[in-house]
Amino acid sequence: MALLDKVKIEEIRSSVNIVDVISQHVHLSKAGTNYLGLCPFHGEKTPSFNVNSQKQFYHCFGCGKSGDVFKFLEDYKEIPFRDAVKEVADIAGIPLEIDTRPVKDNPNQAIYDLHTQAARIYHTVLTATEEGAKAREYLLNRGISDEIIEKFNIGLSLSDNDFLYQSVKQKFEESVLTNSGLITFAENRIFDSFRGRIMFPLNNEHGQVIAFSGRIWRSEDLDNKTLAKYKNSTTTPIFNKSEALYNLDRAGKSIKKTHEVYLMEGFMDVIAAYENGISNAVASMGTALTEGHIRKLRSYAHKFVLVYDGDKAGQNAIYKALNLLSSEDVEVVRIPDGLDPDEYNKAYPDALGTLMTTGRMAPVEFLMSHLRPANLTNLQAQLDFIDLIGPKIAAIDSLTAQDAYIKRLVEILPDFEYNQVESAVNQRRENVIDSQTIYDESFMFDDGMAPPPEEDDDAYVDPTLVAPIPVMGAKKLSQIELSELQLLHRMIYHPSVMARVVAANDFQFVHRRYQDLFEVMKDLEEVEETNLVGQLTGEATETFYEVLSTVNVPDDISDQEIDDLLKNFVKAANGTQLQALQDQLVQAKQTGNSALELQLTLQIIAQKQQDGV
Ligand code: UTP
Ligand code: MN
Repeated sequence: MALLDKVKIEEIRSSVNIVDVISQHVHLSKAGTNYLGLCPFHGEKTPSFNVNSQKQFYHCFGCGKSGDVFKFLEDYKEIPFRDAVKEVADIAGIPLEIDTRPVKDNPNQAIYDLHTQAARIYHTVLTATEEGAKAREYLLNRGISDEIIEKFNIGLSLSDNDFLYQSVKQKFEESVLTNSGLITFAENRIFDSFRGRIMFPLNNEHGQVIAFSGRIWRSEDLDNKTLAKYKNSTTTPIFNKSEALYNLDRAGKSIKKTHEVYLMEGFMDVIAAYENGISNAVASMGTALTEGHIRKLRSYAHKFVLVYDGDKAGQNAIYKALNLLSSEDVEVVRIPDGLDPDEYNKAYPDALGTLMTTGRMAPVEFLMSHLRPANLTNLQAQLDFIDLIGPKIAAIDSLTAQDAYIKRLVEILPDFEYNQVESAVNQRRENVIDSQTIYDESFMFDDGMAPPPEEDDDAYVDPTLVAPIPVMGAKKLSQIELSELQLLHRMIYHPSVMARVVAANDFQFVHRRYQDLFEVMKDLEEVEETNLVGQLTGEATETFYEVLSTVNVPDDISDQEIDDLLKNFVKAANGTQLQALQDQLVQAKQTGNSALELQLTLQIIAQKQQDGV
């Protein structure tokens, strides 16, 4: 790409006001010294997208997206950096000549190109050869029309040893062929990795083909028990199996529009959903749901709808996924009769769409049936079941919904009355709040206001120490998070504070995202705002802007302020210990270990005295 020089970029950046540029795309209202609106990068109903006109950046407290005016245009319009610079230059009326030759500096470009060509070859084989006609017959039998074959760019690898290799070997270097994983180089022969399979290309978010999954289809292969039903691309420089999502490129728009994404197990399920008018479904590539998938989807969706197979494995996968998605908005669709969505679509034509949109249940409802023991006449089994489900009910926001689920539990449990189950849930509710208290409740700032001082409450921190958040839309943060942010802010703008923290060798931030930013800062010769921003990528950039957006402190600092901040870290460490003890105590009570219970109670009292709680 044409190298734009730094000075010119700086001139362009400072010649516009970020508020004006963003206002053209997002409705912003003035809120204090900042501007606030609904975040264009994730679905939300209450605004948490902040634009800071003084420092010329934006930061969303909901999804973490942040950056300067160029970054905004890059992300909002999905254009490369140089186009964003050009656009701002146009707004500012600054003439700018940029090289518009295609970007050729991606080291993996050739591997992308090979995948694109392979997909084209596979697709042609499916649509225009004799073997292809037979494969299309198989697909048609499964309800996959020519239209779907086009839409999903489905193809066919011939059963020849090296059809693909022969077709592409002139155009690509051997290293590219090897690294792509599509061609296998064995000791004395070269052959195609995928042979005799119906090929489903997997695209990245930009629609580039990055991998394939191939399904067996010929009757002799279907009878051959040693063959895997699906064979997937191996990990390559452009394909990471644990993050890739089938159909995300086509589904992205509709996910953003509806704020919902359907998670399914198989490609065929995604296609069946599409045939039923549902275009916001994705599937993982033969792996269980991972953190990586969720991270990727968070910027598109705020509700996850799980539509896994109706068999035992699928139900267990839902259970695991619910644990991973515990802090997200989730609903579950159960496919009846042990079928998978695609099979259900075959068995009940046109019913899948309705089931997916209207047949959803809350996670707790799913858990109530999934975790329900076979024999509930046993009193202990009923108690255990309350223990499992109670906390899930207690964690539901709406009291009306809690009440409904308590009633449902009472229906299931032969030996319990409403008020007994209710009080068990209430106990859980207190535990839920209790365990948060140490970090959150007593320190929480609500709606950007500091809590009122309470007499004899040592946990209360003078609000002049930790500045209240004047920023609207900011997330509720615990006191330790505020201390971390404030300390980072001081370290960025005051070299002496940076030096002091670095000198305390064993100093650690409590939250990983803050520690990560700290690590980058430690490696810099000189920490200084612009210099720092230039060094940051990904999450660290978001954290940096979180610091700038959240902390509002006067320029002057005192040793006392830093002392107090550091003291909060010590307190937090002790709080973690107390929490661990309390967790162990709950366990000891449950298992009826009274000796351990007594010992833990004594330890907790000692710890509380030490903390002055
Ligand atoms: P399923 O066995 O549920 O396949 O595996 P499916 O979606 O119903 O496929 P059809 O309908 O038989 O064609 C779900 C997913 O697990 C992965 C694939 O990604 C598949 O879509 N898988 C399955 C593999 O990677 N390898 C296999 O051998 C089987
Ligand atoms: Mn299936």
